[in-house]
This record gives sequence, C-alpha cells and structure tokens, in this order.
Amino acid sequence: MEAVAAASPSLGASFLPTSSSTILQLLLLMVMLVYLVVQTLVPRRRSTCTAPLPPGPKPWPVVGNLPEMLLSGKPAFRWIHHVMERTGTGIAGVKLDGVHVIAISCPSIAREVLKRQDTNFASRPLTLASETFSRGYMDAIMSPYGDQWRKMRRVLTSEIVCPSRHKWLLDKRADEADNLTRYVYNLAGAGSGGAVDVRHVARHYCGNVVRRLVFGRRYFGEPRPDGGPGPLEVQDVDAVFASLGLLYAFCVSDYLPWLLGLDLDGHGKMVREANEMLTRLPDAFIDERWRQWKSGEKQGLVEDFLDVLITLEDAEAKPVLTIEEVKAQSQDITFAAMDNPSNAVEWALAEMVDSPEVLKKAVEEIDGVVGRDRLVQESDIPRLNYLKACIREAFRLHPVVPFNVPHVALADATVAGYHIPKGSHVILSCIGLGRNPAVWDDPLRFNPDRHIPTDPMADVTLTENDLRFISFSTGRRGCIADL
Ligand code: HEM
Repeated sequence: MEAVAAASPSLGASFLPTSSSTILQLLLLMVMLVYLVVQTLVPRRRSTCTAPLPPGPKPWPVVGNLPEMLLSGKPAFRWIHHVMERTGTGIAGVKLDGVHVIAISCPSIAREVLKRQDTNFASRPLTLASETFSRGYMDAIMSPYGDQWRKMRRVLTSEIVCPSRHKWLLDKRADEADNLTRYVYNLAGAGSGGAVDVRHVARHYCGNVVRRLVFGRRYFGEPRPDGGPGPLEVQDVDAVFASLGLLYAFCVSDYLPWLLGLDLDGHGKMVREANEMLTRLPDAFIDERWRQWKSGEKQGLVEDFLDVLITLEDAEAKPVLTIEEVKAQSQDITFAAMDNPSNAVEWALAEMVDSPEVLKKAVEEIDGVVGRDRLVQESDIPRLNYLKACIREAFRLHPVVPFNVPHVALADATVAGYHIPKGSHVILSCIGLGRNPAVWDDPLRFNPDRHIPTDPMADVTLTENDLRFISFSTGRRGCIADL
C-alpha cells in the first residue's frame, strides 16, 4: 500500500504551497501564544518514565517542531530523513504539535517495534485522508486497532486473500496476463514507434486484475480491441494513485485539528475531490450488485470477490457486512494491489535496462525454466529465483513510499532504551532501512545477486521478516498478501 508517494505520517511526498505556508507560520505563532497561556493554566499528565525520548531537534512549546519543518522548505518526509541523518542513531523523534513522530532506519530497532512489541504498535493514526478513504474507518488497512479492524482483517484473510480463493481465481489472473502480453505486443508494434510506457502498462495491468477479481470485469466502460484501458479505466487508476498520494501525506490539520475547517494547505479539498473520483465508478457498480442480490434477481453462483463480500453470512445466516463495509473492503483491495506491484516492476525493468548483464541473466533464467515455446505461468514463479531477486532488489532500493504505513503506540513503551510515549506515530523508513550502509554493501547498487542464497536448493522469497528492507512488513498489521 504509494501506500502506499503515499504512506506515512504525513510523510508522503507532499509540499505545502508557499503562500499557504506563510499564513500557516503566522497562525502557528498565534496558536503557540494561545496554547502557552492555556498550558500554564491547565496542569498536564507528566510521564513517570526515566528513559530519554529518541534523539531529535528540541521541540518548541505547544507546536513542537512544526515551525522548523515548515520553514525548512523540504517536504515532510525529506525533513524527517534529514533529522535522522543528523542523529545517526537509527531512531529519531520529532514532535508535531502534541504528537511524537518516531522514525526508524535500523532493522533491529524496527524488529523491536513490529516483532517483539508488535501488540503495542498495532494501531494507525487518525487523519483526515485516512478517515475519508476508509469511510469513517470501516476498513482493515487504515482503521485504528479495535473490533472493526479485527473484523475486516478477518474477512480479508479468511475469505479473500487465502489459498482456496487464490486457486479459484487463477483463470482470471491468467487471462489478464494474456491480455497484458497482447497489449504490450500491440503497443510495441503499433503507431507508438515501438515504445512501451512501462508505468502505464504496469499500473493498468494491476487495475485490470483488481477489477477482474473484485468486480468480475476488466472494463468499467467499453472493451478496447488492443487490450488497453479506456477513458473510464484511466480515470479509475488515476484516482487510485491520486488518493494513495494523499493518504498519510503531511497535513497540518491532522496535528492541529481545530484548523480543519480552514483547510489552509488545500489538503482537505484535494482529499474530497480524489475521494469523489475514487468512489464514483466502483460505488455505482457495488450499489447495483447489492440490489441484484438483495432483490433475489441474482442468486446462487458466487463469481467474484464482490459476490463473496455481499453474500457472506454468519452462523445465524445473517449478512456479515453492510454495504458501506463492502465498499470499504473493495477499496482496500484496490489500494493494496495497485501501487506496490506496479512500482516494483517499473523499477526492476528500469534497472535491468540500465544493467544489460542483469537483464541477460533474467532472460536466461526464463529461457531455462520456461523455454521459448510457451508463456510464463504463475506455477513457474517458484523456480524463477533470479527474477524474484530482482523484485526484492526493487523493493529494497526503490520503495514505493519513503515510509511504511504508520503505526501508533497504544501505550507508553521503551524501544532501544528510548521512551516512546503512548499515541506516538512510529514510521519505519523504507529508504533508511533498504539503503542502510551498515546493513547493505554498496547499498545504491542494484545487485539482485545479494538475495541469492548460498544453498542452491533454497528459494528466494519476496517477504523480508527481518525488516532489513520493507516489502510486506510483518506483525499484526503486516500485509496479508504474503502468501
Ligand atoms: C507487491 C504487493 C504488496 C506489497 C509489497 C504489500 C506491502 C504492504 C505493506 C508494507 C503493508 C503495511 C504493513 C505495516 O503496516 O507494517 C501492507 C498492508 C496491507 N496489505 Fe499489502 N502489499 C501488497 C499487496 C497486497 C494485496 C494484493 C493485498 C490484498 C488485499 C494486500 C492487503 C494488505 C492489507 C489488508 C494491509 C493492512 C493490514 C493491517 O493494517 O492490518 N496487500 N501491505
């Protein structure tokens, strides 16, 4: 999940417009003064913990480090990485208003958070964008820790992303792989002068697969003879990526909620517009399918994920999900399945074009395993170790987002000897981990061989449970798709 330049406090790649930042700075000053007066009058809960907070710049009263972050002229994610570089400790803390944001680039500290103390870091931040895109936290990805998250995650793991369904939908995925081959073949041969826009093709392939599995169809509009997307599919995929770019991008009102109505940086407007585009086509489709099932017009055959979600019943034959929950689940699947895979493929291919010897090895492997008389099948993947190593290397070196999806501390904790207050937002730096020179030799070099195990019988996997880089993450909030 560009979750996935998407994921992280606030730490996606968004910039504040200059005029807005000037107004913001004035407002922040005003807020600081007002809060200072209030703070001196209202006593606050003091922590009894003696461990120090993670190293970072000294916060101002009330607004914390917000002023210097805004004045730095850098996007939030870059500024936080700059702070991490200065501290050099693999963990750094900044304070944005009252919220401690803890950034981590050391794998052993990351494991302490997402493995040893996983239960305590199993929540998500409440932000304007995540609340909007999750329809008021009805989903699994963005919901804070609690019953609703548990319910939606359980539905996904037991009914959607599980081995039996994976098998059930194999033909549809194979059909989409054929469609991709046909489309690329048409593009390479047709009027485009042989050029293939890999980003466009990879994103639309993911979009096609999601629509096919969830809605049982490749096109929201009319089919295209060359296998490419029509205007409605382009609109749909653009809306998904626009929304992912806003999800967890820095927004000042997430930290100063009373600024919400003013929408100084225009974030609220962008979120509303993106959500409108994002939901328009799928919602109409889900409304109609819901009507068909509930009216008895459709019965019996369950053909796609949407049918599964709508017809799901509990032990007393009562529907498990409301229509809003079905919409939230469908959207989670869409969000989750688009940016990570397409980004990894795009970068792996770009690096291969740049390193012909890597490309040659990958082609030789495919020739050896698959041969030249047929197309690659899903069942070949376990034996394509070098190709998987290329994808691992793309995850490591070119993560789709600078930070993993944020986690929130449910209680005070001590990590690596530092005090992490309850409510802290903890963000693992995908860049900091994957390019950490203490972990990786020559970290900026695309070198798939580093992932090839010395044991020739051992498989290359795409998961990275030791968190030396982020692929599917791990723990209670880890990805459910690491089958
Ligand atoms: C290349 C493919 C994918 C990659 C690399 C990937 C990676 C990730 C990552 C890094 C997270 C955040 C984990 C954390 O918070 O620490 C995540 C969460 C999640 N992913 Fe994936 N993902 C992929 C595909 C999918 C697919 C196809 C689904 C299908 C529905 C999916 C479902 C989820 C869900 C539901 C969560 C949130 C879990 C929770 O908060 O409880 N992912 N994924």
